[in-house]
Amino acid sequence: MCGIVGYVGPRDSQDILIAGLARLEYRGYDSAGIAVIDGDGSLHSAKKAGKLAMLRDELASSPIAAGTTGIGHTRWATHGGPTDVNAHPHLADDDKLAVIHNGIIENFSELKAELLAEGYTFRSETDTEVSAVLLGREYSAHDGDLAAAFRAVVNRLEGAFTLLVMHQDHPGLVLGARRNSPLVIGLGEGENFLGSDVAAFVEHTRNALAIGQDQIAAITPEGVEVTDFAGNPVEAEPFEVKWDATAAEKGGWPSFMAKEISEEPEAVANTILGRVHDGKVVIPELDGMDELFAGISRIVIVGAGTAAYSALVGKYAIEQWARIPVDVELAHEFRYRDPLVGPDVLVISISQSGETMDTLMAVKEANRLGAKTLSICNTQGATIPRESDAVVYLHAGPEVAVASTKAFVAQITGLYLFALHVGRIRGTVSAEVQSEAIREFADLPEKIRWILENEQERIEQLAHWMADTRSVLFLGRHVGYPIALEGALKLKEISYIHAEGFAAGELKHGPIALVEPGLPVFVVVPSPSGAPTLHAKVVSNIQEIRARGARVIAIAEAGDAAVLPHADEVLRIPLAGPLFEPILAVVPLHIFAMGLANAKGLDVDQPRNLAKSVTVE
Ligand code: F6R
Repeated sequence: MCGIVGYVGPRDSQDILIAGLARLEYRGYDSAGIAVIDGDGSLHSAKKAGKLAMLRDELASSPIAAGTTGIGHTRWATHGGPTDVNAHPHLADDDKLAVIHNGIIENFSELKAELLAEGYTFRSETDTEVSAVLLGREYSAHDGDLAAAFRAVVNRLEGAFTLLVMHQDHPGLVLGARRNSPLVIGLGEGENFLGSDVAAFVEHTRNALAIGQDQIAAITPEGVEVTDFAGNPVEAEPFEVKWDATAAEKGGWPSFMAKEISEEPEAVANTILGRVHDGKVVIPELDGMDELFAGISRIVIVGAGTAAYSALVGKYAIEQWARIPVDVELAHEFRYRDPLVGPDVLVISISQSGETMDTLMAVKEANRLGAKTLSICNTQGATIPRESDAVVYLHAGPEVAVASTKAFVAQITGLYLFALHVGRIRGTVSAEVQSEAIREFADLPEKIRWILENEQERIEQLAHWMADTRSVLFLGRHVGYPIALEGALKLKEISYIHAEGFAAGELKHGPIALVEPGLPVFVVVPSPSGAPTLHAKVVSNIQEIRARGARVIAIAEAGDAAVLPHADEVLRIPLAGPLFEPILAVVPLHIFAMGLANAKGLDVDQPRNLAKSVTVE
C-alpha cells in the first residue's frame, strides 16, 4: 500500500517521479504528491487527493520549479481520509524538509502529544506528519546532520514504515528507511533511485539493491550507502530485475487486468521453465533441502485472499503426491492463535507481492517458533522471500491490476511443482505419475489459450447481459471449491456485486436457502473422467439448485454431456487431469469478473477501497 519513489541525479526529477508513480499507482490511488529541491536549494511540493491524474492536472495548471532531487508518493489512506491536506509529502522545519511514508506508525499519538506539548503544530491527521515534525526537531537537535536526525527519528518509531526524506539544505541527497515495509534501490549511471518496488525505476535501470529490515539507504548521484538504524555500514544485496519496463505497461490492452488474463498461459509456462529435468520435477532453488523435506511431519501454508485460495488448491496436490498433511491458514489468523509449529513443520508462505504484511508477520512468527520457512513468491527481492529460509520464484512477470489473475495460476503451478519435487524426494510419487504430471504441465499453456480464444467473447457477452445482477453464487467441490471461492472474490472485488463461494456439498447445510428464481449460480464441474463419483455428486447439486429456480452456469470439460441438460449455460474448458482442472476452470471466472466490471463501467484495474500490496495489518 502506498507507492514511493525517490530520485537524485542530473535530470529533472518531476518527470521521473510522475512516471514512477504511474507504475506504482496500483499500490494505492487515494492521492498523490511530489516534492523536489530546485537548483537554488529550495524545496517545492504539490499534492492532490484522487488518482495520479489529478496531480498531473494540478502540476499542469500550477507548475512547481524543476529540481534534480525529488520524492513522490501515491497513497492508500490509513490515518486520515484521502484529502489534499492528508496527501504526502508532509513538510516540516519551515517547509524545508519533506517526508513520504508507507505503513503505519503505531506510536504516533504518543509522539504527537509529545510534540504538541513542545509547541509544534500539525496540518494533517496523518501519522506521517508526526515523523516529519519529529525529523524537523531532531534536525535542529543534531545541528543539521540529516542522517543522524533521521536515525534518531526511525529509532523512535514503532510499527511498519518505509520513509523517504529530503531537506533543502542537502540537495542531491535522499534518505530512505524501512521496517516491515518495502524499499529497494535502483542503481543508475550518475543517478540513483529508491522505490517501493523495482517498477518505480525499471524504465531507467535493472540493477537493484535489496535493503534489509531496519536499514537506511542514502542515495546521491555519486553513490549509495546503506547502514543499520545505528549508523553501522551494511552490505546490501544486489540483484538484476528480470523483466523490462514494457512488461509493466498495458501494451495496447484496455486494462492491465485484460493483459494479465491474456498472460495466464505464459505465467504457467514460465513457472515451469527450468524445473523439469530428465523427466522429473526438480526445483534447483531447493537444492540441499532434501533431508528437510524427507523429515517434515506437516506443512502449513499461509497467505491471504487469492493467494490463500491457491494454497487451498495446492493442499490437494501436496497431500496426494508428497503425502504430507497440509493445513492452510489465513496469514492474519495464524499469527494470533499460538500456532503449533516447530522444527518438524515447514511453513510455506504464498504471496504475489512478497510484501503482504499479514503474510510477512506469519512468516516471522514461524521463524520465531523454529519452523523452516519457504516463500513462493512472484516479486524478486521482496521482503517475504528475504525473511524466509528458501524461495521459489514464480516468474509470472509483473502483476499490476489490483485483482490477482495470472499470479493465481502461477501460484497453483508453483505449489504443484513443489509437491512433485518433494514427492520425488520422499518416494511417494511414482515415475509414471511424475511423467503424467509433466505432460499435463506441458499442455496447460495451450489449453488456457484455447479458453481465451474460444470462450472469452461468449463469457464477456454473458457478463454484459448480467450487468444488473445483484448477487451471484459459486459452487465447487474438491479442487473446484477454492476455485469457487476465487470466482466469488474476484467478482466482489472489481464489480462490487455480492458474491459467495461455497463447497457444493455444503449447500444443503444452509446456503441453499439463498437460492431463489433467477439467481445466477456458477458451478465448477469436476472432470467426469478422473473423478466420476465427484462428477455425479456435482451434477446432483446442480439439479437441486435448478429445481429451486437458479440459473446455472456450469464450467465443464468440453465433451461432458452429462451436464448439458441441467445447465442454462455451459462454459467449456479443455480436458485435463482432475488436479489440473482448477488451473483451467478459473480462467472463465477471471474473464467473467472483468467482463462484468467492464459492463458496469468500472475501473477494473483500480477498484474502490483496495490496493495491490497490502502492507498494513
Ligand atoms: C485478490 C487479491 C488479493 C491478494 C492478497 C494477497 O484479487 O489480489 O486478495 O491475493 O491481498 O496478496 P499477495 O499475493 O501479494 O500476498
